[in-house]
Amino acid sequence: MSDRAIDTLFLEERRYPPPAEFAAQANAQPGIYDVAAEEFWAREAQERVTWFEPFDAVLEWELPYAKWFTGGTLNVCFNCVDRHVEAGLGDRVAYFWEGEPEGDRRALTYADLQREVVRFANALKELGVEKGSHVALYLGMTPELAIAMLACTRIGAAHTVVFGGFSAESLSDRMNDFGATVLVTQDEAWRRGGTVPLKRISDEAMAAAPKVERCLVVRRTGGDVPMAAGRDTWYHELDVSDDPSTCPCEPMDAEDLLFLMYTSGTTAKPKGIMHTTAGYLVGVAASHSYIFDLKPESDVFWCSADIGWITGHSYIVYGPLCNAATSVLFEGTPDFPDKDRWWDVVERYGVTILYTAPTAIRSHMKWGPEYAERHDLSSLRLLGSVGEPINPEAWVWYHEHIGGGRCPVVDTWWQTETGMVLITPLPGITTLKPGSATKPFPTVEAGVIDEAGNEVGPGGGGYLVIKSPWPAMTRGIYGDDARFRETYWTRAPGLYFAGDGARIDRDGDFWLLGRVDDVMNVSGHRISTIEVESALVDHPNVAEAAVCGRADATTGQAIVAYVTVKGGVDPTVELMAELRNHVAAKIGPIAKPANVVFTPELPKTRSGKIMRRLLRDVAENRPLGDTTTLADPAVVSEIADRASEAPAED
Ligand code: WT7
Repeated sequence: MSDRAIDTLFLEERRYPPPAEFAAQANAQPGIYDVAAEEFWAREAQERVTWFEPFDAVLEWELPYAKWFTGGTLNVCFNCVDRHVEAGLGDRVAYFWEGEPEGDRRALTYADLQREVVRFANALKELGVEKGSHVALYLGMTPELAIAMLACTRIGAAHTVVFGGFSAESLSDRMNDFGATVLVTQDEAWRRGGTVPLKRISDEAMAAAPKVERCLVVRRTGGDVPMAAGRDTWYHELDVSDDPSTCPCEPMDAEDLLFLMYTSGTTAKPKGIMHTTAGYLVGVAASHSYIFDLKPESDVFWCSADIGWITGHSYIVYGPLCNAATSVLFEGTPDFPDKDRWWDVVERYGVTILYTAPTAIRSHMKWGPEYAERHDLSSLRLLGSVGEPINPEAWVWYHEHIGGGRCPVVDTWWQTETGMVLITPLPGITTLKPGSATKPFPTVEAGVIDEAGNEVGPGGGGYLVIKSPWPAMTRGIYGDDARFRETYWTRAPGLYFAGDGARIDRDGDFWLLGRVDDVMNVSGHRISTIEVESALVDHPNVAEAAVCGRADATTGQAIVAYVTVKGGVDPTVELMAELRNHVAAKIGPIAKPANVVFTPELPKTRSGKIMRRLLRDVAENRPLGDTTTLADPAVVSEIADRASEAPAED
């Protein structure tokens, strides 16, 4: 990265010190950073989790594999459900479930959840699931998805949840890799008033997954679906008990496999990221409590992610339930039936903590603050962001228009592989800077290294690494030790290589710069796509922007910017020039895009990530790679057409 570009990063001078009232009542107090790692985690493990047998050692570290809380036995479902009921919290709401069709809603208390989980676990047993079985879950955002996960953990079966937006082929690939013998799905899922045929997709997937013997089907829409005799069973037709004494919680070893979450890497084959029982549970429960300042008796927590991703696993299901929290579970989308749906949910349930993604915040920005203004959002006291670097403009908009200027914003950096948040502010302690994830979580040692593996000083850009183990870290890629070592542990021997670019400023705060494959090199200067995007969305006419590099004979790479403009703005040639100059003025002439391509939408995965790989393909006139994970594959050909018409600047 050029010195000039790095200097620009220090131009973000807005500071948000913790409000005094928040600090006074916060779960995390400043001394939290002073406790030694093993002491910290031993205490968290003892205080947050109920053990059947106590652990002997806190950590056994044989790089790159960690074992935490060895010798201990516990059960995740017991910790997330049963013990809360036993402690007299049975009447507390675990989930306010808001279905997509308006008026379709349901509150589940912890006592309800216990009955439902026992019933589901007994159903799974009926189908032959036992301790050590592998179960695939392919459902939408219904309570039954969380219930099925907990039911698996209750009887000691490992699960893999496959996001309900994935195709039959993705589902069968994952089931085959995992060796799943049972699949749980639902008839159909609601999606913007239409339906997604999950059972039919499952049928297609099962045809290519011969190890799957049984399929349990939850009824959701009531749509007509074919059922294969001997293989498929309706959940509601099984006559099984919901009495906890009929299905005790299986004692599990601390290091028993809890679940796999598949994530894409640099090759076509997704990686089955392994998470185990105790370290994961302790890590997500502790991080959830400190980062979101959770007060289980009074807060209503809403993480807007899908349970089909790691964010939903850690911060809709396991972290919040272990902490006896009340959460919102939302089946719908932010703009159906109208663009104020989220704010209606916040008002209806009195949400106090909202955790969402920058891409969603930017959509709301694009639609305008009037939708939020229709509702009373005064219950909110804390906001969170995750999934990609948040540009300062979106951060400030979120803080102002959603948080009413009073709620701290925690920008949380983590990954499927890390299991829990690793870099984040602690509300009540950290002075916030829009666009910075600030500091490593207590006990986490993070750093930035250069190509040669040397630590980079303040202000310098480089690769983000984590230097010591943490409880919720992945225990590897399922069935692929070589790929695990190669992907994460060889670039900097002994350090966990996250694949993200980062820099640390003079206050020791971390600024994430996006995946390292998204860093461009123009005339020998490294420029983050994120920086350029951030500069573009800073322009009042821009709603969203994605930037990538294309090969250039002279400069190595040249910058291509794909831009969506705000409603009512004309995407003119004059605006193109203005945007180029705007970027040049914000970052430096080196960052000036050679091409600006106006487009009505950016190509995004169903989880909302911009697919820069496809943008690079378009920018370099290559045949388009795999577009099957796009939410709307038509977007990319439209962009290709427009790109071929866009004038380039010399
Ligand atoms: C990648 C991990 C677990 C979070 C959901 C995505 C990017 C995530 C941030 C953030 C900057 C972020 C990174 C990371 N990322 N959060 N706060 N600031 N970048 O999980 O699909 O495993 O993706 O998301 O690039 O490597 P994932």
